[in-house]
Amino acid sequence: MTVVLEVRDLQKTFGAVVAAKDINVTVNEHEIIGIIGANGAGKTTFVNMVTGYLKPTSGHIEFAGRNIMGLPPRDITNLGISRSFQVPQVFTSESVFDNLQMAYAITEASGMGLLSPLYNDERAARVDSHLKRYQIAEYRNATASTLPQGVRKLLDIAMAAVSNPTILMLDEPTSGISVEEKFGLMDIIMEALRQDETTVLFIEHDMEIVERYVSRVLAFYQGEIICDAPTAEALVDSGVREFVIGEEYHRTRTEAANGQSNGQEGDDNA
Ligand SMILES: Nc1ncnc2c1ncn2[C@@H]1O[C@H](COP(=O)(O)OP(=O)(O)O)[C@@H](O)[C@H]1O
Ligand SMILES: [Mg+2]
Repeated sequence: MTVVLEVRDLQKTFGAVVAAKDINVTVNEHEIIGIIGANGAGKTTFVNMVTGYLKPTSGHIEFAGRNIMGLPPRDITNLGISRSFQVPQVFTSESVFDNLQMAYAITEASGMGLLSPLYNDERAARVDSHLKRYQIAEYRNATASTLPQGVRKLLDIAMAAVSNPTILMLDEPTSGISVEEKFGLMDIIMEALRQDETTVLFIEHDMEIVERYVSRVLAFYQGEIICDAPTAEALVDSGVREFVIGEEYHRTRTEAANGQSNGQEGDDNA
């Protein structure tokens, strides 16, 4: 197994708030890891530090054997760690095709400091094949602001993946997606990333999604990782059950009840 990410003794404080404490994680190539934890547990802070959006207070982060502490997000992306945000970062007034075209142009210009003309035939071919892989080709010419939420999420994650990163970190890929849609959405994303052999870490509140797609779980609680274990083991861990699943179970039930009329979980086969 090849280690791609090594995080040692990572800390982050915001005044009196300890958002990350003694974070130690080793990630191997091709792992699919779920990051779980109640609101405010420190999940996004962790992703922000690894991707350069937040400067850790102390600690050490190595990517592919190289110290990346303190590097700006752009440099970290260029090295091979990409990410998506909880809220899709698409250009809402542009078409799906143009959004992806811009994402490619930015990636391909990295290091040259200059954007080449936006359109060229090779790039367009890459965009179209990417659109197919993320199953949004039928929306190719639609303006991003008009897209259904699920399609907007797919576009956003497709854009984060254009650089074919070694590691992709996703912040709540299924947030705002209905119970009916979320598995279909995750099937598309995870299949595309599997083809690219991408190492994936994603933040997720829905334990059904965690169970289905990840092989390892990092459970956060009050800035600390309270469990790092294979999924089946993590989901029956007493700390995880008390501090993560208990709260999340109620949260998802409430959201499901508020979000739709007949959204009872477990009725899928009825
Ligand atoms: N920019 C910030 N300034 C101050 N406090 C922050 C900031 N970002 C996060 N925090 C605090 O750090 C803790 C962890 O937050 P976060 O990583 O966003 O949690 P999660 O993603 O698990 O919901 C919370 O107490 C949050 O209020
Ligand atoms: Mg968060």
